[in-house]
Amino acid sequence: MRLFRKPTALHSLLKKERSEKKTIGFVPTMGSLHEGHASLISRSKLENDITVVSIYVNPRQFNNQDDFLNYPKSIKKDLFLLKELDCDIVFCPKNRDMQKGGEEEINIDCKNLDLVLEAEKRPGHFNGVIFIVHKLFKITIPDRAYFGEKDYQQLLIVRQLTKKHFKALNIISCPTIRDSDGLAKSSRNQKLTPNQLQLAKKIFTLLNFAAKSITQNKIKEGKRVVKEFFNTQEKVTLDYFEVIEEKSFGIVNELEKTKTYRMMIAFEIGKIRLIDNLKIKQ
Ligand code: PAJ
Repeated sequence: MRLFRKPTALHSLLKKERSEKKTIGFVPTMGSLHEGHASLISRSKLENDITVVSIYVNPRQFNNQDDFLNYPKSIKKDLFLLKELDCDIVFCPKNRDMQKGGEEEINIDCKNLDLVLEAEKRPGHFNGVIFIVHKLFKITIPDRAYFGEKDYQQLLIVRQLTKKHFKALNIISCPTIRDSDGLAKSSRNQKLTPNQLQLAKKIFTLLNFAAKSITQNKIKEGKRVVKEFFNTQEKVTLDYFEVIEEKSFGIVNELEKTKTYRMMIAFEIGKIRLIDNLKIKQ
């Protein structure tokens, strides 16, 4: 496994590899790697000649300075895991190289994606994601890039970015990896106390319970159950719980048979903010 810090050095190498017809799979991450990240990396290993993983905590996508400062970091453990996964290249750039060209505007057509849920609750967050993913794609020139459904809104925004600026790039979406109780793996989970972890697990059960009503087109009832749970629990706050139509990313209150839907949730336990989503099976 080779470690790169300089974008120019990595870009030159990858350009050479591409000229020799090697395919490049790219997995962008913010480190503190877990089984969710590992699933993306394993998939890339299967589908490409070279797998590049980036580890970079992008300050620009944090709308809250405390959240940025508290974001978990475990570079030694990460490098160990990446070696185990037989990752070919790890890219750990520095802020000074990644935050240049800050004024460059990357226009993409985001429609609802840039207006609701994460976009509304975390102003500027997706601009930060778009900025860094655009830069990372330019450096790594991948054939395929791997993103998790766990961050569903991010996945769709990256697809829009790709449609406009990287037409030949294939965005591969990967299913959410969960622990045995159904809690979605997240770098932020390790910041939870044992009690908070139990509560986070309960919320996944709650989500499945609400899904039963929602599948029967009783969205109001599903929302009531979720809100009631949060109202009765101390130390957890519901940020949002909505059902979206997948294609338009519009919030809906009724299901139509011909369309596909997803429940989207964000909540805070103590100071830790978690998100999750589940596809509605009609
Ligand atoms: P990060 O949160 O580290 O996630 C990196 C990738 O791993 C994302 O595509 C995310 O959706 C995926 N992922 C996280 N948890 C997962 C899980 N439980 N199952 C499957 N995939 C999972 O997302 C980011 O970093 C950043 O915004 C980034 C794209 C790197 C830009 O800075």
